[in-house]
Amino acid sequence: MTAETTEVKESGDAWEPRIVAYCCNWCSYAGADLAGTSRIQYPTNARILRVNCTGRISPEFILAALDMGADGVLVSGCHPGDCHYTSGNLKLRARWALMEKALEQAGLDPRRVRLQWASASEAQIFADGVRTLVEQVKQLGPIEREWK
Ligand code: FES
Repeated sequence: MTAETTEVKESGDAWEPRIVAYCCNWCSYAGADLAGTSRIQYPTNARILRVNCTGRISPEFILAALDMGADGVLVSGCHPGDCHYTSGNLKLRARWALMEKALEQAGLDPRRVRLQWASASEAQIFADGVRTLVEQVKQLGPIEREWK
């Protein structure tokens, strides 16, 4: 992975960021589904990956997504106190600052990642989180990768 760039390549098409969204099976994944069935409008940039619990997410997951082509990563899980595995989301929250440091050390702006809590009934919160992250990443521009 290489340093951040804020230059947006000029080409015929406007650049659109690619977002990986890791969603907890028990809450945000259902919230994302509800956003779709409720016809809540949000950017189509996110590719949703279901995980059993946000406690499964490690910095390596996020760095791997960014290394493999994502421009931003959203992690969305159960509210603190509602985790189906008791404290998985709390463990992730405790690791989050470390993960942001890992991003900085890799030369990436931590605004490329977002952690949020959204229950199965909070489709609007899920959609708003995607929109917020897409807007942030658009301001940062694409990641310039070594292999380009
Ligand atoms: Fe949803 Fe743990 S089960 S964050």
